[in-house]
Amino acid sequence: MKIQFTLNNKPCLIDSDPSEKLIDVLRRENLSSVKQGCMSTSCGSCYVLLDNKAVASCHIPVGITIGSEIITLEYFSKTDFYSDIMKGFEKAGVSMCGYCNAGKIFLAYEILNILNEPSRDKIKLIAARINDCCVEQNTFINGILYAYSIHFDKEKLRKNGH
Ligand code: FES
Ligand code: FES
Repeated sequence: MKIQFTLNNKPCLIDSDPSEKLIDVLRRENLSSVKQGCMSTSCGSCYVLLDNKAVASCHIPVGITIGSEIITLEYFSKTDFYSDIMKGFEKAGVSMCGYCNAGKIFLAYEILNILNEPSRDKIKLIAARINDCCVEQNTFINGILYAYSIHFDKEKLRKNGH
């Protein structure tokens, strides 16, 4: 079946069984940031943004992505959001062992994107979607809070013409 979506801001048409997992399609497209880990939604290594939401691509049948926008770290790592998230992580001492980078970064993005005033409790609920990570959860939450203030303080300055 022909399946069309937007991949990293470009139109993409693939021929696939709709039940094939998105992770396998993306890896065939040579997107090496999408890594194979637990294959059961808990490690974060295969995470992508699907219509701006952080999802485990090991769990998504490609058939449901028709017409969607999919972003992987290859593209996201060139954005302002990415550099602000990385600064926040660095400030909090969130280590990046390489295994679950996509999961941590895309969950942080989702939180920055959807929560107006992120509280520790609200962040904790979303961050708990990755539960296999070697970073202590409080450190991860601190990193997200730092990223939030770095990103939105900059936005405020921009709006005020600085
Ligand atoms: S491989 Fe998908 S969440 Fe672990
Ligand atoms: S498994 Fe998440 S940083 Fe190591």
